Amino acid sequence: MTNDTGGDVRLSGISKHYGSFTAVHPLDLTVPQGSFFALLGASGCGKTTTLRMIAGLEEPSGGTVHLGEQDVTVLPPYKRPVNTVFQSYALFPHLDIFENIAFGLRRRGIKSVKKQVDDMLDLVQLGEHARKKPHQLSGGQQQRVAVARALINHPRVLLLDEPLGALDLKLRRQMQLELKRIQTEVGITFVHVTHDQEEAMTMADTVAVMNAGRVEQLGSPSDLYENPRTTFVANFLGTSNFIAAEVDSTSGDDVVLKAGGGKLTLPAARCSAPATTGGKVLAGVRPEKISLTHADDAGGIPAGRNRISGRIAGSSFIGVSTQYVVDSPVCPEFEVYAQNVDRDERLVPGADVVLHWNPAHTFGLDAAQDIDAGIQEEAAS
Ligand SMILES: Nc1ncnc2c1ncn2[C@@H]1O[C@H](COP(=O)(O)OP(=O)(O)OP(=O)(O)O)[C@@H](O)[C@H]1O
Ligand SMILES: [Mg+2]
Repeated sequence: MTNDTGGDVRLSGISKHYGSFTAVHPLDLTVPQGSFFALLGASGCGKTTTLRMIAGLEEPSGGTVHLGEQDVTVLPPYKRPVNTVFQSYALFPHLDIFENIAFGLRRRGIKSVKKQVDDMLDLVQLGEHARKKPHQLSGGQQQRVAVARALINHPRVLLLDEPLGALDLKLRRQMQLELKRIQTEVGITFVHVTHDQEEAMTMADTVAVMNAGRVEQLGSPSDLYENPRTTFVANFLGTSNFIAAEVDSTSGDDVVLKAGGGKLTLPAARCSAPATTGGKVLAGVRPEKISLTHADDAGGIPAGRNRISGRIAGSSFIGVSTQYVVDSPVCPEFEVYAQNVDRDERLVPGADVVLHWNPAHTFGLDAAQDIDAGIQEEAAS
């Protein structure tokens, strides 16, 4: 951290209106220096607008942008210590790779560029392609040229807007690791925009989940996944099962819930809804935390686990795991992922089962939210 605010990029109350439409609601965001930061959200939620306000390509309707100590809110883009990599990386087709990367230095009148360009070529592992033209490279290689071309200017912050969007899935995965390696090596702050939750989780130290022009939640990938505070985040990042429940009592560090005639327990620390007796809570649990036991063997389930009964409605074998959909009185389509270690041949559609899990793996959310928030958005993207 190089300054007392600890932020390399600091947005304070930044907002953007287009006529009567608000693309970004007043937003506060601090990106720590040297971190890989992702803005994640569905199409149209305001990611690019936010990024463009950092770059100076879009004038905010209100609020301020700081880069380090400096208030850059009124600075034009070229005076800001940032560079942007776009999805359409727009390399210069007539220049070779070396000259594409050297471009920023040459424009500033720097004569001896060889050492710096060679270092960049090494960084993105394209040394042997230096004299090729962009059209002679693969999509992933071209993308790396675009990153090198931006990094050679030593920006304080590198902004990346869906930089891998044009690549096919396999190449995307490779480039995610590659970009992460490059960021770790250069130690420059990266702000990466994506609608792909897996991409954000793979690469970023911190993810800000955006929804309709607001940051819904911010945290490390594991924190967001394990402790979503809204149904939107719980559904947008992976899959969540929700059981509508009512607070029965609190005992020690636990909250006891009533649901469909049975009881469920969750840690009070994981319940973001008020735990007052009679209050409504959505009890959430991730599909991979749940075990499935055939009803005939229910007696063998250890005491102290949360349990509900149901009937298997469908199952799909996907190699590493089997994904079950279970009908239960408390949740119509319970999703359960079972690793393929010892498969129980009786677990087929129509079988009566008990779903059970460690109460510590339950999270509680305010029931006054749309249980399906975030689901359509992900499917549509
Ligand atoms: N120049 C503009 N004039 C009017 N509305 C705009 C303008 N630019 C963006 N918007 C609107 O602002 C909202 C946010 O747009 P933005 O480009 O930031 O979304 P995004 O999160 O980057 O989406 P995507 O994932 O599709 O790129 C959208 O509803 C968009 O239609
Ligand atoms: Mg965008």
